Amino acid sequence: MSRLIVISNRVSVPKAAGAAGAQGGLAVALNSALRENRGIWFGWSGQETEEFTGHLDMQRNDGVTTATIDLEPQDIEEYYNGYANRTLWPLFHYRIDLTEYDRNFGEGYERVNRRFADSVRPLIDQDDLVWVHDYHLLPLGSMLRTQGVKNRMGLFLHTPWPPTRLLVSLPFHERLVESMLAYDVIGFQTEEWLGSFLHYLEKEMGLDIGTDGCIEYQGRRIVARAFPIGIDYAEFREGAQSAEADEAHDKLKASVRGRKMLIGVDRLDYSKGLGERFESFSRFLADNPDQASQVVLLQIAPPSRGDVASYQQIREDLERKTGHINGAHADVAFVPIRYVNRGYPRRQLAGFYRAAEVGLVTPLRDGMNLVAKEYVAAQKEDDPGVLILSQFAGAALQMDDALLVNPHSIEHVSETIKRALTMPLAERRSRHEKLLQSVRDNDVIHWRQEFVKVLFAGALAQGSAQDA
Ligand code: ADP
Ligand code: G6P
Repeated sequence: MSRLIVISNRVSVPKAAGAAGAQGGLAVALNSALRENRGIWFGWSGQETEEFTGHLDMQRNDGVTTATIDLEPQDIEEYYNGYANRTLWPLFHYRIDLTEYDRNFGEGYERVNRRFADSVRPLIDQDDLVWVHDYHLLPLGSMLRTQGVKNRMGLFLHTPWPPTRLLVSLPFHERLVESMLAYDVIGFQTEEWLGSFLHYLEKEMGLDIGTDGCIEYQGRRIVARAFPIGIDYAEFREGAQSAEADEAHDKLKASVRGRKMLIGVDRLDYSKGLGERFESFSRFLADNPDQASQVVLLQIAPPSRGDVASYQQIREDLERKTGHINGAHADVAFVPIRYVNRGYPRRQLAGFYRAAEVGLVTPLRDGMNLVAKEYVAAQKEDDPGVLILSQFAGAALQMDDALLVNPHSIEHVSETIKRALTMPLAERRSRHEKLLQSVRDNDVIHWRQEFVKVLFAGALAQGSAQDA
């Protein structure tokens, strides 16, 4: 089996992930994928240094070898806070209103991608498979090619891919997309994002797409496909049945004193639809006054990307909104929204999910959304909770036995909360059974194997062509 060189902006050392566990879907998925394969995980340490040296910090933790570099403050500002999180993230989540275009961001993005390429290059051996992740590193593959790297290289995008009409608002979009064609395999979370990408190639670049999703470009063959990501089902289920999970479950249950609970778990990000979710819950309380003292919403939302103004703004908005709703609906003995800004170890989180009768996962746009899958995996099979899921999360395509909602419709979500809270046990069980099967069958191991299989299959074809 070939060695994997995994490259992503954020490298989350397993111990740290175990302790805080709030680094988002990418880190959670890659940790479990890398534990299975020999290889190296390369990326930014999350630390800054006065002057970039390219020094590699190599560590081995819990079966995963990591190699990280520190970046200069200007790099972090222009590449991470700038192009990645002020330009591409909002654009890829259809938030053109929040998208900032700044020449310095673009230059910083190119500079840091080049720094990544220079630093990781010496780690790549001849037979390694190179697997690059996410919107921070789209041009990395083409920079490695310029440096003579001939290895099979794949890219997986964890976010949505925007419709062509939005993407063309990005200055130099042609250059960015063309650079992606240096990869051999380009993976998306869903057919929808894949379709938008292929549409761009056809309409803006005039390329022909083969019926199998293959693209011929400058004498090379590129495979573009959907590979829906999943959770580490076996590990999560085991964690969900642990003593830590039981303790977290029991404490939380005791604290709500017989009230029913809805749970939300999200990075504090405007794409997650938290404001609309709070409004919907407030509407539910207003429309069902008899329920007001019987139900509580627990929202766990660790802060994210706090140096970016739009994230500071959403944080303020949510604090104001929570205060407002609690002020309107609380009584001396209860508060309707418990709003918590911190991360929790994964086993505790599993216990919290199990304690909640309803999982509320209502992003306005999400590449996949792993929280929806974790909620399902944490439930008791004989008495499971109900998942309410946004139709705009990639996960909705695989999880249509959830109650699918339009998160923009406050009425619809409010009515769906009522439906979920009163759903008969037989319906809860039959929906949960199908959801659980889909979460089990499409887990992170399956995702990794499928991607690596396609990447490796091309290597075999390349090898036999060279042999011939
Ligand atoms: P994103 O990648 O955009 O953050 P996902 O739903 O795909 O969204 O992944 C989020 C991951 O981060 C999940 O595995 C979830 O359990 C984890 N996570 C989010 N919030 C917390 C928290 N407060 N504590 C622990 N883990 C969290
Ligand atoms: C999403 C992105 C990841 C990112 C994560 C957390 O999952 O797809 O690339 O790592 O959010 O965001 P952060 O900016 O803290 O790395």
